Amino acid sequence: MNATAAQALPFQVRKLTPKLGAEISGVRLADRIPHELFHAIYDAFLRYQVLLFPPQEVPPDRQVAFARHFGEVQIHVMSQYHADGHPELYRLSNLDEKGNPNGKHPDKGTLAWHTDGSWQRVTGQATIIYGEVMPETGGETHFCDMYGAYERLTPAWKARISKLRAVHNLDFSRTRRHGEDLMTEEQKRAKPPVDHPIVRTHPETGRKCVYLGDHAEYIVGMPYDEGRALIEELNAMAVHPDLTYEHHWTAGELLAWDNRCVMHRATPYDPATQRRVIRRCTVLGEVPR
Ligand SMILES: [Fe+2]
Repeated sequence: MNATAAQALPFQVRKLTPKLGAEISGVRLADRIPHELFHAIYDAFLRYQVLLFPPQEVPPDRQVAFARHFGEVQIHVMSQYHADGHPELYRLSNLDEKGNPNGKHPDKGTLAWHTDGSWQRVTGQATIIYGEVMPETGGETHFCDMYGAYERLTPAWKARISKLRAVHNLDFSRTRRHGEDLMTEEQKRAKPPVDHPIVRTHPETGRKCVYLGDHAEYIVGMPYDEGRALIEELNAMAVHPDLTYEHHWTAGELLAWDNRCVMHRATPYDPATQRRVIRRCTVLGEVPR
């Protein structure tokens, strides 16, 4: 048996499903990550699309440092969510000042399938979430493979959408999902709607994927209602049970995923009885093509 590349990896890899996701163990994320180690992690990120790191302490500054290996970290326009003095981190919590559940879901927009940062011209590359406190039931994060979503479209569907562009709008998705913290006029001006191709080519793997999700509002050049219906249909068609990974969290885990080729959503939990606190950071990628 010859030495394989897998044996040379500086960590262990366990696939989470046959098609999507891998657990990476043997990396201490709080430590400085050498260049070569990050390269191996990034290769796994491109290959498996979703990476899970087992429970460990990752302080906020180390989470940001890890994210910076991927690229420029986004400062989210909705500054009310900034965490721990780190504007790169966005905290979602249902706890009051005493640490008790406050009964309010902090962001209902996360419950619909979406891809982070599709509402801006330069969209999200990696999202990196650290689970500080996790509920016993609910509050899972689910992923679906958008390469697979494209590959399973019929040739007629592929032809129909090949040149279409969708307009993504954060104000639309938040308003539609009854977000309790709606955007201010200034935030809306800072993030006007933008259009992206529905069929996106991943800039690093060269593979095509469907790029839509819940921030997509309408289709350029198509009557509004017709575009809405098409977006809803494609979003529903994109999710295949055998191309999906459903993550039930343990506190202290960290997930990193590639927004260019997966959609994700959170599942509901009871914010009156369960505690859930996550820290999220999104790395900026590129303009979709
Ligand atoms: Fe998200």
